[in-house]
Amino acid sequence: MGEVIKVAPAAGLKGTINIPGDKSISHRSVMLAGLADSPVTVTNFLQAADCRSTIACMQALGVTVEQDEEGQLTVTGNGFYGLSEPATVLDAGNSGTTIRLLTGLLGAQSFFTVLTGDYSLRNRPMARVITPLAKMGLQILGREQSRYAPLAIMPATEITGIEYDMPVASAQVKSAILLAALYAVSPTVIIEPMPSRDHTERMFETFGIPVLRTGNTITLNPVQKLTAPALINIPGDISSAAFWLVAASVIPNSRLTLVNVGVNPTRTGILDVLQAMGADIAVVNERWSGREPVADIIVKSAQLKGTTIGPEIIPRLIDEIPVLAVAALFAEGQTVVQGAEELRVKETDRLKAVSLELSKLGAKITETPDGLIVDGPQQLDFATCYSHHDHRMAMALAVAGLAAQGAEIAAADCVNISYPDFFAVITGLRQE
Ligand code: S3P
Repeated sequence: MGEVIKVAPAAGLKGTINIPGDKSISHRSVMLAGLADSPVTVTNFLQAADCRSTIACMQALGVTVEQDEEGQLTVTGNGFYGLSEPATVLDAGNSGTTIRLLTGLLGAQSFFTVLTGDYSLRNRPMARVITPLAKMGLQILGREQSRYAPLAIMPATEITGIEYDMPVASAQVKSAILLAALYAVSPTVIIEPMPSRDHTERMFETFGIPVLRTGNTITLNPVQKLTAPALINIPGDISSAAFWLVAASVIPNSRLTLVNVGVNPTRTGILDVLQAMGADIAVVNERWSGREPVADIIVKSAQLKGTTIGPEIIPRLIDEIPVLAVAALFAEGQTVVQGAEELRVKETDRLKAVSLELSKLGAKITETPDGLIVDGPQQLDFATCYSHHDHRMAMALAVAGLAAQGAEIAAADCVNISYPDFFAVITGLRQE
């Protein structure tokens, strides 16, 4: 069942937190640097299990990744055509970003690979990447009519650009197509239903690859080589900062300064929603880290009120719904989440897991086919609940416990996927 962690109620949270590196950008930095022909140093890389899966896969493909004691990476690839056939199956672990992006990248190479992952990942949908990649000429086979991993990826013959109207807003699918499109013989055009996170596009530009965006349409021309930057400094992950934004808002007597938070507009839905709920949040010291905007965020306790989180904002806060459901429990009035059916295919079915586990703490939450309904404020009890081996579930449940009567969380060690220090940070912030 994994490690059980008990979280005691907090009388307040105070302090300054350096937010760990962005998971999405960390993956992309190693993948792109691995295609370059000069070394790239990566600072504030997220040292967590998901990103280590990407490092291990890239190493198995012939890329050299050296790490110093502070976790700084130096990635040395062998050029744009320099990846080599791995000796064994590549394991993406729990990481959807690793498997989906590598499917696009490896399908464009002239060698054979097999990609797999843990139990959760082997049950997440892969047809969404295989379908557009097959239209480009990539040859990929998966378990159960190519719906699931393990995936067998055949050597590429000719890759052609496509015009693809994406049925779901997914940065992982978009990025898999863009990575394959680099190696195509003709341009690729992708139309997104709503803009998803654009870290791949920004990272491409950092490596000298022009990307054209007009409205929801992205156009990419194939390239022959990348021009690598000497240094990439990864911004902090707003999806990790989200737990502190909610915790400090709902726990009275709190004031937190979150340092180095990525505030890319395709990711800041959580700030818009919390501000609409009445949160006391100040975004200060805005600056750039390469092509990504960064800021510090000061958050203080506030009485929240309910809100509607509709389909149009979901891609900008897709990973923050579990902790926003916790915020809603402490808010006055009703909070409705709509258009969030994508949550059912994350590390676990997050709509089901959120309502099931928060109800163990005494919460009354209605699960709908595409969202949640929460009437607040509610009193919670102490209880034992279960992370479903989903890192964001474990952290959202911890915030609920901190803000109410405490909680015991089974399989809490899954926080290692994205935020290994999460529970240690709590200890340093508590006010007695
Ligand atoms: C990610 C995209 C999102 C997000 C995931 C990371 C990425 O997934 O939920 O945590 O790095 O591209 P989808 O593309 O499936 O929406």
